[in-house]
Amino acid sequence: MPCPALPDGFDFTDPDLYHQRVPLPELAALRGTAPVWWNAQRHNIAGFGDDGYWVVTRHQDVKEVSTRPETFSSNLNTAIIRFNESMTRDQIDVQKLIMLNMDPPEHTRVRQIVQRGFTPRAIRALEDALRERARRIVARATRAGSGDFVTDIAVELPLQAIAELIGIPQEDRARIFDWSNKMIGYDDPELAITEEIGRDSALELISYSMNLAAARKECPAKDIVSALVAAEDEGNLGTDEFGFFVLLLAVAGNETTRNAITHGMHALLAHPEQWELYKSERPRTAADEIVRWATPVVSFQRTATHDTVLGGQEVKRGQRVGIFYSSANNDPEVFDAPERFDITRDPNPHLGFGGGGPHFCLGANLARLEIDLIFNAIADSSPGIRLVGEPRRLRSAWLNGVKELRVTYT
Ligand code: HEM
Repeated sequence: MPCPALPDGFDFTDPDLYHQRVPLPELAALRGTAPVWWNAQRHNIAGFGDDGYWVVTRHQDVKEVSTRPETFSSNLNTAIIRFNESMTRDQIDVQKLIMLNMDPPEHTRVRQIVQRGFTPRAIRALEDALRERARRIVARATRAGSGDFVTDIAVELPLQAIAELIGIPQEDRARIFDWSNKMIGYDDPELAITEEIGRDSALELISYSMNLAAARKECPAKDIVSALVAAEDEGNLGTDEFGFFVLLLAVAGNETTRNAITHGMHALLAHPEQWELYKSERPRTAADEIVRWATPVVSFQRTATHDTVLGGQEVKRGQRVGIFYSSANNDPEVFDAPERFDITRDPNPHLGFGGGGPHFCLGANLARLEIDLIFNAIADSSPGIRLVGEPRRLRSAWLNGVKELRVTYT
């Protein structure tokens, strides 16, 4: 299936590509000419040495793949990233214990249990504590007069939110935050996600969480850990399942939200009229436009379980299908002037939290709340914020991340 818009074997998994520019013009070109396109390049995707993968760029097709789990399985790993060559098949299989990589009916069972912790009521219960945290984080950062917005403001609230949600004791939080950050490569000088550091910290986090779950099983408290592991029957998680769930939260709820917040600040400063509008009106629509604009998760992948047709193309059983949220969120068929950052955009059917299927982001409402709370706190304290230089990006083909955003506060 030749695509005139792209050179043969264009490497969407090359982190340096995204280092320079997101959303990729190549994805936009495909969307217009070959929206479901076979990329025959051999990239070491998820360590399986595939022969290629489908690149899905239109909003409607990304939604279709997401909502047909019986045809497009999550079980063979969902992220299009290059894994370390030394990663063994066993290590990759361990990832199947994470719900993101499960298919129904197993996924349905786990999801039904864990979503108890994410009901609107559960999220509302966190609101006052998180508002106070957001206020303190912003006050501390602005008092310093200048700094890195990522480290000083964007990093902490998502970690605190997960810790509050799970009920991690205060005295353990510094350790948990350290493992979480190392796992996603935050400490790496090359700005890359390095699997080696990631694996050790992941194991420590899993082991800590399993111990916490075992302790709460013995002696229940009023927190989500106790609720999720309370009894040994089908309706509850085993301590090992809980360990992997915390691991997922530490990645899924951490880097994503911090990048939404950082990109959001950058976009608001780059569009001063939008920042003025935000400060005066505080539109409820702002958080979703920030997520659409940032699209922190660039893509996920699925594997076809049988031959099927997608966007007029014949997809064969076993073929990988890459769904590019970053492209779907800029699809002009769905978004009026998608290149415009508009915090009053409504409706805003973006796919930043996924394409609406069974894996739709469990933390979407929590993420929206965190984004609202941080920008409200910044707008309330009303400092003059100025950018200093350009953001330093994360080297990743999967996450649209910023490592550093220097600012001054006046
Ligand atoms: C799944 C994005 C924040 C927990 C996902 C998916 C995306 C996503 C794209 C996959 C959806 C799919 O495959 O259909 C984001 C973004 C966030 C964010 C952009 C912030 C702006 C959070 C937070 C939490 C969280 C704060 C929890 C604390 C999860 C979990 C899943 C998930 C547990 C897996 C759900 C499943 O497999 O059923 N997220 N997420 N996310 N997210 Fe988020």
